[in-house]
Amino acid sequence: MSETSAAAAPAASNERMPPESIIAVEHVSKSVTDSTGTLEILRDIDFRLAPRETAAIVGASGSGKSTLLSIIAGLDTPTRGTVRLGGQDLFALDEDDRAALRARQVGFVFQSFQLMGNLTALENVMLPLELAGIRDARRRATDMLERVGLGQRLTHYPKVLSGGEQQRVALARAFVVEPAVLLADEPTGSLDFATGETIMELMLALNREQGTTLVLVTHDRGIAARCDRRITIEAGRLVDNS
Ligand SMILES: Nc1ncnc2c1ncn2[C@@H]1O[C@H](COP(=O)(O)OP(=O)(O)O)[C@@H](O)[C@H]1O
Ligand SMILES: [Mg+2]
Repeated sequence: MSETSAAAAPAASNERMPPESIIAVEHVSKSVTDSTGTLEILRDIDFRLAPRETAAIVGASGSGKSTLLSIIAGLDTPTRGTVRLGGQDLFALDEDDRAALRARQVGFVFQSFQLMGNLTALENVMLPLELAGIRDARRRATDMLERVGLGQRLTHYPKVLSGGEQQRVALARAFVVEPAVLLADEPTGSLDFATGETIMELMLALNREQGTTLVLVTHDRGIAARCDRRITIEAGRLVDNS
């Protein structure tokens, strides 16, 4: 214990990528052009997150939060700047390598759950394990569904589950691969208050258990207040990071 703290290194001189960053969003801008002109969705967004940190992205509807989260996931591409996950420049990779990195390192939870309707709860949670070539998919997925309180719902299809249950399946699916980074876009946005609180508690608990870095888009001030950091976006600009 004392050995590591006594050996604490002085601040790194390499400011571009401090070794303690798991996520580095580096001067990210995003614009889209169509026949009516160019829309700047994100402008020079720049911040770092350390492993295990929890950050809430807050801001008005249309300010660019979902676009930023998609870029951090490597699902959308920046016009300028880049994102590093664990030091790896996401956009220096081709799409296949980026998808492979995402499969190993990134979990995603959506407002609308995005479960596969033709698969059972268990099959939904097994899917990312199988895609990542991880053994024991059935046992691991079963354990994870039991962890989120759905041990009695393994063979149920999404359409017969409540919204809160569907989001618990989605949390199990996201956390089952033990991703370094968990991205959540308004995960409680389509749930009633009490159910949303339960989902939030579960997500924060899983985050602590697994040491995940969590980036969460939310409109809920109470939820934002429970994160280590609040990153405020206004019209595509980062206006506060505290
Ligand atoms: N592919 C796209 N083409 C054109 N406009 C887009 C595209 N994606 C997002 N936008 C616009 O960019 C703005 C930010 O969108 P979004 O990131 O979804 O905001 P938020 O999640 O904060 O509500 C909105 O005005 C939206 O309409
Ligand atoms: Mg959004």
